[in-house]
Amino acid sequence: MPERIFVAAAWPYANGPLHLGHVAGCYLPADIFARYHRLKGNQVLMVSGSDSHGTPITVRAEQEGVNPQEILDRYHTQFLDTWEKLGITFDLFTTTHTQNHQEVVHEVFKSLKDKGYIYTDTSLLAYCAHCDRFLPDRYVEGVCPHCGNDKARGDQCDNCGRTLDPQDLVSPRCTLCGNSPVFRESEHFFLKLSAFEKPLLEWVNKQTHWRPNVLNFTRRFLEDGLKDRSITRDLAWGVPVPVDGYEDKRIYVWFEAVIGYLSAAVEWSNKDGATGKWEDFWKDPDTKSYYFIGKDNIPFHAIIWPAMLMAYGGLNLPYNVPANEFLSLENRKFSTSQNWAVWVPDFLSRYDPDPLRYLLSANMPESGDADFSWSEFVRRNNDELVATYGNLVNRVLTFTYKNFDGKIPEPGPLSEADQSQLDSAREALETVSQNLYDCHFKAAVNAAFSLAQQTNRYLDSAAPWKSIKTDRQAAATSLWVSIAAINCLKVALYPFLPFSSQKLHEFLGFDGEIEQEQWDFDHLIAGVAPGKALRSPSPLYTKLDPLIVEEEIQRLGVGAA
Ligand code: MF3
Ligand code: ZN
Repeated sequence: MPERIFVAAAWPYANGPLHLGHVAGCYLPADIFARYHRLKGNQVLMVSGSDSHGTPITVRAEQEGVNPQEILDRYHTQFLDTWEKLGITFDLFTTTHTQNHQEVVHEVFKSLKDKGYIYTDTSLLAYCAHCDRFLPDRYVEGVCPHCGNDKARGDQCDNCGRTLDPQDLVSPRCTLCGNSPVFRESEHFFLKLSAFEKPLLEWVNKQTHWRPNVLNFTRRFLEDGLKDRSITRDLAWGVPVPVDGYEDKRIYVWFEAVIGYLSAAVEWSNKDGATGKWEDFWKDPDTKSYYFIGKDNIPFHAIIWPAMLMAYGGLNLPYNVPANEFLSLENRKFSTSQNWAVWVPDFLSRYDPDPLRYLLSANMPESGDADFSWSEFVRRNNDELVATYGNLVNRVLTFTYKNFDGKIPEPGPLSEADQSQLDSAREALETVSQNLYDCHFKAAVNAAFSLAQQTNRYLDSAAPWKSIKTDRQAAATSLWVSIAAINCLKVALYPFLPFSSQKLHEFLGFDGEIEQEQWDFDHLIAGVAPGKALRSPSPLYTKLDPLIVEEEIQRLGVGAA
């Protein structure tokens, strides 16, 4: 029975280019997972979009002296280009600045208001007398009341991960001028989160399949107690509040952005004219929803969004929230202001996507933080992709192509070594599949890669380039076994290395998309039928000059603001 899988990835703020930390944090794992399930024959819907509102966008617009719309359009276009080049296969990557999104947000807002989960109250807003303006949450910094971090922002503390309101901060200061703001009263809408403290805790305690770090963080957060939170702001850019008298306010960016997961599914559904398809992904309790996010987004995806869904009713809660930890760069935190970052569009202007996908998978910040370094990138590309996997494929296919008339050879009786090589391939397919199913991406790519190493050892000891002179049959057998293993590798590595796997699929004589393959050993073995025509192979990967390490490191931090 095919499964139905909803793949959600955090919505990036459309205020600047993406760096490798974003890719490793959520877009790559989401894409690997979606490709895996599609190849398995499951029904997948993968969505996200540009987070279009909020201070990250307005700050940028103010800095450049342009409209927020211009910033949104620029980076949204760039994101779409990045997904295409990096092979991140969203079914829909939209924005939160659409008519559809506004309608869905209003529908949720009104429903929660009717049920009494949204109510009005006055709230204290930070006002800076020196700058003569109300300050958005992120314009207020101060000491976190929970952990003492003195760089906590008015919306969240990056040190302990707790969500905050500006007035929670000890010694608050305006980030624009450094003076301390005063707090003025203003009427706003509040979300009754407190009503969901118990139901959420009960629900979370049942999610034993969640990653331990996500589960523990969420539990601890709930045990601290849930306070109601204001969900409107005194702003002009954002989703309007659907209530008379609130024309000068907007819905808080986080409240409406998470609703994007629902509105994007509706937009996708309406696109084909087949309205209602979104309901399969949101209302069928057998559908599993996975939210790929960075760990700083856990409160919004594991607590606030589930609370909103509980309040609304009738829609699926997250099945899993496989949040990743952080990626550092050459052992330092990514920093936009210090330009300590590898920007994805820049990276892709010089290098292929698959080696990056491979490195970030093998080194994914899954159960702990991880580091990207250029020397590791070159090493993994040269030693692993080129020398191990690429070379295996190239040796086998070139030799076969030349010596067996461009066709898959007919194997003779299988020896114990041949059989055990095939068993390794069968087991690797199983192990990779199980790990991917469980969102264990590092373990999955390592298991697939072990099969490449194992096949290399098998080939070295079978040495068909020697046996061909004395025993053509033995050479044919070992080449057929190697090709069979390579056909399995093509599938096992596809979620990680989609571009080169497609190429390999074609070298192996297949037409069409590799995603139409089956994740099934017997099927893949039947696919390497003796006599089947191969296509003339060429190397899958290119060796990188180790000199680029120094060159790339030189670029870091240059032109910092
Ligand atoms: N834009 C937010 C960030 O980059 C993530 C928003 S995820 C959403 O941290 F679901 F709320 F949209
Ligand atoms: Zn803190």
